[in-house]
Order: sequence, then structure tokens, then C-alpha cells
Amino acid sequence: MKMISLAAGVLLLSGLSASAATDKAVVTLNDSPFATDTIMPEIYGQFAEHLGTCIYGGLWVGPESPIPNTNGYRNDVLNALRELKVPVMRWPGGCFADEYHWMDGVGPKENRPRMVNNNWGGTVEDNSFGTHEFFNLCELLGCEPYLSGNVGSGTVEELAKWVEYITAEDGPMATLRKQNGREKPWHLKYLGVGNESWGCGGDMLAPYYADLFRRYGVYCRNYDGNKLFKIASGASDYDYDWTETLMKKAGHQMHGISLHYYTCYSWDKPKGYALDFTTDQYYWTIGKCLEIEDVVKRHAAIMDVYDPGKRVALLVDEWGTWWDEEPGTIKGHLYQQNTMRDAMVAALSLNVFHKFTDRVRMTNIAQVANVLQSMVLTKGDQMVLTPTYYVFKMYVPHQGARVIPCHIESKKMKAENERGSKPRTFQTVSATASEKNGVVTLSLTNVDLDNDCEVKVELGSLGVKKVNGEILTAKNIADYNDFGKPELVSPEAFSGAKLNGNILTVKMPAKSIVNLTLTK
Ligand code: AHR
Repeated sequence: MKMISLAAGVLLLSGLSASAATDKAVVTLNDSPFATDTIMPEIYGQFAEHLGTCIYGGLWVGPESPIPNTNGYRNDVLNALRELKVPVMRWPGGCFADEYHWMDGVGPKENRPRMVNNNWGGTVEDNSFGTHEFFNLCELLGCEPYLSGNVGSGTVEELAKWVEYITAEDGPMATLRKQNGREKPWHLKYLGVGNESWGCGGDMLAPYYADLFRRYGVYCRNYDGNKLFKIASGASDYDYDWTETLMKKAGHQMHGISLHYYTCYSWDKPKGYALDFTTDQYYWTIGKCLEIEDVVKRHAAIMDVYDPGKRVALLVDEWGTWWDEEPGTIKGHLYQQNTMRDAMVAALSLNVFHKFTDRVRMTNIAQVANVLQSMVLTKGDQMVLTPTYYVFKMYVPHQGARVIPCHIESKKMKAENERGSKPRTFQTVSATASEKNGVVTLSLTNVDLDNDCEVKVELGSLGVKKVNGEILTAKNIADYNDFGKPELVSPEAFSGAKLNGNILTVKMPAKSIVNLTLTK
């Protein structure tokens, strides 16, 4: 691959081969004693849908399984997720949510009816993983449950009773819950009123959905001290009209509105495989992923008009890479592998979310296991930790930390823009920083496939005395972790950061993610 220098230091990719060089970049940490914005832990949320082997096989094997488990939940996956300090888990969909009837998933397993999972490959769902299994999982992981309610094919009564079943101390639904083995109500904060209501969730028009949201909001009540945070089913990608209509007609009734943004080439054409991509496709991925910044900005600007006090949260409750299913896997199950390219998308997206702490208060990567950009992949009793998993692990210190704004000057690149003739432009270096309990975490990304980068970090008045670091990189950008093989992509200790007063010099290899812990 060759980089062609353009005016103003912008590089265009040509598909030819380049010689490696060392670029230079400057990152300035603009800390201020007045900065108070917190990176909500919920930015690191997960999403688990009844889709492919996300639930069955991925999280849940049942208590009778020979695969080591705790009350039916796989021990290896539980332990891996505990390391990520998962703050919130969204369930049961996705598109599945609007065909899910919760009553089918409670009570004795042998009495639970079966259904066809029409959205996802026509697989028969036996409802053995239902409300109790989900809420108990959240308790085991210590995370908040985020319930997606059925608006598309359900009724107001059905969703209202689900809330009552989960959260009421007494009454007919609480009695049923107790008969089913759970005495105490669970805690439920996040309630999604439908999913993709403009599409698989009912193909509605925005004004109609806005009315429905208001109606559901009336009957989904707060029982016995439980307080619901009601989330409207929001837009996908560039559908700013949907956000505008909902904010105008129902903004006062909602606590949050969602946004879905996938790093995905096209909905109706091949998307390419996770493991098989060209250099140009790699840089396209980076450009598309980073475009989320503009998309969030534009949705947030609309919200500002109707909610200048920023009471309503924007929740990016589905994001991540979406490639074609791995060859040989079941159609409709959205099983994809995960390479260093996906790790880049995870890091860059999280860096962007950190910039919008005033609006973006939750995100949920799609999905936690065996579907799209997963944390873990499972096959029988084996489990693989993906490169994306490792980004989430490296970024744990950012959860709940105070964000430190960064200014970055680095080389710019251009990549194909499938939405228009103007290429997407991005910087090769991305950075995010935060501070918690006196410790600063600085995460840096160099997306360049060929060139190392010497990054000068201006620390200002932070008073840093010591630096520790780890790095996630790979020999090839398409490297991944596979079953029964040694890990090719996992974090290693990093010694390329040198401190000199309030200047930190970081020698970043090409295609790397570096996480630095700065202590005072
Ligand atoms: O995450 C897979 C699917 O993508 C979800 O079910 C749906 O909400 C979205 O279109």
C-alpha cells in the first residue's frame, strides 16, 4: 500500500505498497480544575439478544450441561465478563424484543411454549432463558438490567404487567413471581419502549410512535420505590427527522432516546468478511466508524433545541462492526470473527463517546457473545476472548472517571465514503484521557497500518511522576484469536513511554492501541 502526500498533509490511500516511517503527533491534555464531566460507566454497556448463540451456548448452557456453569450460566464467560465490570446489559433484543412475549418465559420450563425466532434464522426458541434467568444473570454480574419492551407486537397491558411482575412487592403479578420462585422484586431502572420502531419493531412513522411512547409511558409505573428510566426507540444512523419528531412530541415524557449506529458497509449489499479485507477496506472502516462523532453531534444538536438543559440522555444502545456471517455458519445468526481491525473500531468509538459526556450516558456494543462485534466467542466448552474484549478490559479505568479533554494534532488520511463523493478524512492518532482517584488514564490509538508515530503528550499541570503502560497490537491487522490456538492479539506490557517533566513521549507502533496509567 502506498500513501500519496496531498496538500495540507492529507494522505490518500492508493492500494500500492508504502515504506514505513515514523510520524509525529502532539496530544495536549487540557485539564481544568473546573472540569466535572463523568464518563458514565454505562458507556461500557453490553447487549444480549436471543439471536444465534448469544444467549443459548454463549451465556447460558443450563444447569444440566457438562460445560462448567453456575446455575446454568457458563463459568468461563461469567469470569471474563466480571473482569470487564459490565455496568449494564440490554435484553432480550433487538428485533427479537418486539416479538417476545414475556409470559412465555416464566414458570416451570416444561410448560413454557416454543416460538419461532422469525427475525433470526427461524430458529426455534424454547423460552428456557426468560425473565428470571436474565435478572439473576445481572445480579451475578453486578450490572443494571436494561429491558427492551415489546411495542411492535405486544400490548400496553403486557408491558405494564411485566414491569409490575419484576418490580412490585405485592399484587397479582408479584404473587405470580413469588410462585415462580422469586420472593423479592428485582431492581429495574432502564426500560426501552420498543426497539427500532421505524423498522423491525413495527415499521411505524415517527408521529405515531411518539404517541405510542407517551401511552406506554403512562402505564409502565414506578412500584415500591423502583424508578424507571424510560427510553424511546430512537433513530438509526442519519435519520435526524426521527429524533426531531420524537423530541418535539414526546421529549418531556422520556428520560432517554436511543441511537443505533453500525460500522457497516451497506444493508442490502455484501458487507465483507471480518477476516478478509483489503487495506482500503480497513481505512474505509476507520472512516465510517469515526463518522459516529458527526452523527452523535447532529442528533445531540436537535436534542439541544427541545431539551437545552440536557435532561434527556442519548443512548447509543447498538453499535459496533457488522460483517457478513462467517462462511459455514447459520444464516441469520450473525456470527462473525473479530480482528485487530475490530479492536480499533472499539477504541475509536469509545474515544468518541467520551467526548459527549453531557448527552451520551449509555452505549451498548452489539453484542456480548457470538453475535457481531462480540466480547467472547464460544464453541462447545471452549471460549475465546476477542481483541474487542481486550479494548474493553484496558478501558475499565475510564468507567466513572472524570474526563480530561484532549486536543490532537496528527497526520490526516482520507478514505472512501460510500455515502458520497467526498472522501472521509480522519487523523491517524486518536486519544482519550480521564482521571479517577488521582490516577490519570490516557488511551492512544495509531490507526496507521505502516507508520509508527512518536506522540508528544503535553501533560500541563497534571504533575505526573510515573508511567505504566500496556499495548494491544498485532503482526497483521487481520490477526484474531481462535479456538485451540495461542492468542495472537492480547495486551502486553508497554515500555515506549518516557516522561520528562510535563512532557510524555510515546513511541507508538503502527496499528496499535496504547493504554497509559499516569500516577502523581
Ligand atoms: O444487533 C442485531 C440487530 O441489529 C438488532 O436486533 C436490531 O435492533 C438491529 O437492527
